[in-house]
Amino acid sequence: MGDSVDQRWVPLSDGNSIPILGLGTCSLDKLWMTYLSPALVRKGLEHTLKSLKLDYIDLYLIHWPMGLKPSEDVLFPEDASGKILQSDVDFCETWAVMESCKDAGLVRSIGVSNFNHKQLEMLLRMPKLKYKPVCNQVECHPYLNQNKLLKYCKSNNIILVAYSPLGSSQDPRWFDPNNPIVLNDPELRKIGEKHNKTAAQIALRYQIQRDIVVIPKSFNLGRMKQNKKIFDFQLSDEEVKAIDGINKNCRYITLKQLIDHPKYPFHDEY
Ligand code: A2P
Repeated sequence: MGDSVDQRWVPLSDGNSIPILGLGTCSLDKLWMTYLSPALVRKGLEHTLKSLKLDYIDLYLIHWPMGLKPSEDVLFPEDASGKILQSDVDFCETWAVMESCKDAGLVRSIGVSNFNHKQLEMLLRMPKLKYKPVCNQVECHPYLNQNKLLKYCKSNNIILVAYSPLGSSQDPRWFDPNNPIVLNDPELRKIGEKHNKTAAQIALRYQIQRDIVVIPKSFNLGRMKQNKKIFDFQLSDEEVKAIDGINKNCRYITLKQLIDHPKYPFHDEY
């Protein structure tokens, strides 16, 4: 991986590559849970292509390992009592159709999101596996550093992509106000002062030095620009270790409303 002035590219297992820093979005551009049944996978991707006005996309991910009742209209189908309707669709069957979408040229690379290591293992052990997932996109920041999942992914040549690398937007709809706030962390601030960088830049630099792809979100142009300026300094091994030390295994995006789903990914340690 070569360091350039403002960008680095990470090779993927299928021969393509991905920028180590990207812009996070809040849009639904992954295969949503209501589209996991094999009959709907290609349709889901085609909806995305249509909305983006593209013939193909570079990377398409299964959003969650959990399936919901098939639907093209609602994100969380419910019964009359308000209970979310789950489906027991096997994500390995979903994956086989993702592979065929790659073969059809609709997507260059395919991967997953929010899979734990056992669920990744199930994909890797598929008897007729044609393409490994190139990446697993998960919540990852200094308070949830995902060291064990990272080790597993690295040993299987799967890139870990960190969403919410700044500790999420603290949206009151899902953020518990009792949670600690990553960017207020004194260690990140102290290291930032030393390098003349913000806590956000330190949090992002920490990830790219661990070969993790980061996709920070911002609606503010100044902060977007700030988040790009992470290629002109280096954290020492001691500083990386100090940041490892502030991990709290604190997950902000828990999707608790699906905690009883048989494929809920966060019951396992990693
Ligand atoms: P804003 O859109 O006002 O910039 P994450 O990527 O971890 O989900 O974090 C997104 C949140 O972090 C958003 O609320 C965003 O707010 C804020 N954010 C993005 N960049 C920075 C930055 N450099 N410093 C402080 N907050 C930031």
